Amino acid sequence: MRFPQSFLDEIRARLPVSEIVRRRVALKKAGREWKGLSPFNAEKTPSFTVNDHKGFYHCFSSGKHGDQFTFLMETEGVSFPEAVERLASLAGLPLPKVSPEDEKREARRKTLHEVMELAAKFFEDSLQSRAGARTRGYLADRGLAPAVIARFRLGYAPAERFALKEYLGAKSIPVEDMVEAGLLVTGDDIPLPFERFRERVMFPIHDFKGRVVGFGGRALAEDAPAKYLNSPETPLFHKGWLLYHGAPARVAAQKGEPLIVVEGYMDAIAMVAAGFEATVAPLGTALTEDQLGLLWRIAPEPILCFDGDKAGERAAFRALDLALPGLAPGKSLRFAILPEGQDPDDLIRAGGAEAMKEVLAGARPLAEMLWLRETADARLDTPERRAALEARLGEMLSAIGDETVRRHYRDDLRARLARLFAPAGAETRPFGEPGGRFRRPPNPRQALSPRSARLGQSQILRGHHSAVPAREALILLAVLNHPWLLADYAEELAELDFVHRDCDALRRAILDAAAAESAGDAGALAARLAQTGAAELKTRMERAITHGGDWEVGPEAAAEDVTAWWRQIVSLHRMKRTLSKELREAERALGAEPTEAHFARLQEVKRELDRLDGTEALIEGFGAPSGRPVRTL
Ligand code: UTP
Ligand code: MN
Repeated sequence: MRFPQSFLDEIRARLPVSEIVRRRVALKKAGREWKGLSPFNAEKTPSFTVNDHKGFYHCFSSGKHGDQFTFLMETEGVSFPEAVERLASLAGLPLPKVSPEDEKREARRKTLHEVMELAAKFFEDSLQSRAGARTRGYLADRGLAPAVIARFRLGYAPAERFALKEYLGAKSIPVEDMVEAGLLVTGDDIPLPFERFRERVMFPIHDFKGRVVGFGGRALAEDAPAKYLNSPETPLFHKGWLLYHGAPARVAAQKGEPLIVVEGYMDAIAMVAAGFEATVAPLGTALTEDQLGLLWRIAPEPILCFDGDKAGERAAFRALDLALPGLAPGKSLRFAILPEGQDPDDLIRAGGAEAMKEVLAGARPLAEMLWLRETADARLDTPERRAALEARLGEMLSAIGDETVRRHYRDDLRARLARLFAPAGAETRPFGEPGGRFRRPPNPRQALSPRSARLGQSQILRGHHSAVPAREALILLAVLNHPWLLADYAEELAELDFVHRDCDALRRAILDAAAAESAGDAGALAARLAQTGAAELKTRMERAITHGGDWEVGPEAAAEDVTAWWRQIVSLHRMKRTLSKELREAERALGAEPTEAHFARLQEVKRELDRLDGTEALIEGFGAPSGRPVRTL
């Protein structure tokens, strides 16, 4: 433990004790100090104090006393050098080399770094080899240009069990090193260590110095047991302490680019390729507290841009809870909400950088996200339930470490509560208990309204890689069965707003085919689509029609029935899409400002949508008795 004193002081200067402690203990400001429950003893009254000015913590219940380094040693059981190493990396400081042991370990790391670099090179080369042809095709299909592939050093791990092992062996790398680097799988019951990554697209993961320290591998085979496989923890690779594309993103963020966090490697790459340079992703795990700390060290208000599905929503809420203790004046998170069922990669593919810009511009502040979460599922039709909401919000408040921020949150939430519970135009007349928070009794009309803001039901946050919407499928199948519709309605079809990517793709294929073929009969169109590989899309459409009713515009239907049906369903579709957008708007407005007027607007849009659902049942036969065999189209 011969780290230079100046080095230790530099770490202490960069990382206040409270910042380290707060990763474990909820702290509240008490004068010039922080107070919290002892991490060393179970206690009800806080007796644990932290003083950033003096640079120590003191625990009155256990008598323990120390600084940043001892705290990590005490609470995580690490050695002093390890504590120094961790905090240095958290502070973004390179380690000085001193003691012989340190030098030895450093040398060891260096060889491991070399092993990883060689492996990255091997994967890159095999992507460019003949064996990598299919994978090159896969990446090209996913819209990755060769320059992007080169920049991210994407590679291909061949299907063999020993290809990399032989390659590294020929370069005199001992097998133990390959194992320690996490490249080989070994174990008591495995006689011959073999390759961890096989038949996968390889994403090298770099540390903040730009060295390869791990890999993520995406399965190419559909039936692979794991879609993504990541390097295990190794002396170089600590998932929770790294970020994918972290180093270049930090540079870009320092130049003023907004720092964005996405969920997947592919998302990060798509973002960077679209010009959002300061994008990072966690490494196959939910965002950790340490990663949040890293993010805040790069930028005060990172934007989380998680997938538009349930899992993405959960991840966002989890990050929100993780962030509360660390909020500070000017330091927060924002939440960009993706369209239903899309991840950033999907959105950029469908709508380009412009679409992503719009999503980012609409990013919501943390306070609003918190409010939405707490009120979304709440039933507020009795005083007890309203009190429960207030209590929940109080709990959230107490998780906020910074006193000033907490005060502002309290004001913000109080104002939202007041607006939520007070009927329009009556806010100024006091009612009930004079000191009470709620000035008016609840308006009975509001009893159900907060449910309308349910995030789970929201168009915005629902269903990843979601099922093909039946209506969109029906429209497309109608055209496939009756291509003559295109003579009159090609333009209309081209302009329809489809939610689902597959529908959009099939529509494009149909229009292309029709343009080339001058709209032949159904057989010719099908043959043409089969050539372009769109036949699979048709199958997906057919699978989307799961209701048991007969469908009146199958191949045999009379032309006039088909035409009448087409007109109805297309206009229904247009109305629904317009209303969905209005619904989204109304939800957004309500989230930003929970007023009676916004509730009313949301209710109105929902009523309109319900009404259309009734019409839809008539047109599409969704109301027909179920249980009959699904008609094949
Ligand atoms: P997703 O399942 O959202 O994949 O996982 P994706 O990023 O959209 O990937 P593509 O577009 O299908 O190729 C998001 C991230 O979660 C981790 C990976 O880091 C991935 O990038 N993950 C996912 C795993 O670690 N293991 C898995 O099996 C799946
Ligand atoms: Mn994806």
